[in-house]
Amino acid sequence: MLKNEFETVFKKHKEKWEKSYTRILEKSSFQNAPRKLKKAMLYSLKAGGKRLRPVIFLESSKITSINENAALGAACAFECLHTYSLIHDDLPSMDNDDFRRGKQTNHKVFGEDTAILAGDALQSSAFELLAMSNFSSRSQIYFAKAAGAAGMVGGQILDCEKDKEQSARLLKKIHNLKTGKLIQAAIVIPFIEKKTNINKIKKIENWALEIGELFQAADDLLDETGDFKKIGKSVGKDKDQNKLTYVSIYGIEKTKNLTNDLSKKLTKEAFDIFPSSKLFQYLPEYIISRVS
Ligand code: IPE
Ligand code: IPE
Ligand code: MG
Ligand code: MG
Ligand code: MG
Repeated sequence: MLKNEFETVFKKHKEKWEKSYTRILEKSSFQNAPRKLKKAMLYSLKAGGKRLRPVIFLESSKITSINENAALGAACAFECLHTYSLIHDDLPSMDNDDFRRGKQTNHKVFGEDTAILAGDALQSSAFELLAMSNFSSRSQIYFAKAAGAAGMVGGQILDCEKDKEQSARLLKKIHNLKTGKLIQAAIVIPFIEKKTNINKIKKIENWALEIGELFQAADDLLDETGDFKKIGKSVGKDKDQNKLTYVSIYGIEKTKNLTNDLSKKLTKEAFDIFPSSKLFQYLPEYIISRVS
């Protein structure tokens, strides 16, 4: 069954990554960081999480035959960047969350000053690790754009804006930027690295951005209907903070229908784009299965 094959591959990539990331970090300038900073960075990295971004990066790397050590280094870069985005997202001046990955948020444990700096340092580590893994400047630029002002950070500033218009257009833009771009980069960069044909890259880019949108729509649903024990973060925060989400625009039922439809479309496309990848073929279904 496709689900079982997905789970086997997901677990394999995840375990490889879990075994290697601290060793990889210790090979970078992280090894010389002040103790307190290291502790705060590792606290959030080790807290767990689904490891979706490293896993999908490793899958794309497998499809494109990227050298395994280089792939693991770059996968670590993705999780460092993502973890920094979560530490900052949880800060009192942003979403003001007390729990993340089933534990107290970084600033609750180490204080805001350290949490900000741990996030900053994780971001720098991400770029260092990608470069150390010998990814081309094209890939590094793609990663920087996904993370930066017209990518994740750009999405976060729109997300934080008070009293914004409740429109489907703005919702799509925010979700694409704050979540879609990094997920897109994790899927696309190995294909860029291997100089895949531009038409194929475009197809993969569109698919990956919609995977990001589906993922954030599911996250919006979980914020409303999820269980703290399962998702490891507080529920009902988006409504309290008047966030623009799939649920605020469409309501729960319509969001479920929309995500089911999008998942079906993306599954069909995955069979065409990634004929050999059970992981990508089941990924849309996995994303919505977290909600039901
Ligand atoms: C949470 O990401 C932030 C979003 C972009 C929705 P994840 O749901 O991937 O969080 P972890 O890494 O599993 O903790
Ligand atoms: C955050 O979106 C996306 C990031 C770039 C971190 P959310 O604010 O919805 O993520 P959660 O729900 O706190 O994980
Ligand atoms: Mg947020
Ligand atoms: Mg948040
Ligand atoms: Mg959320």
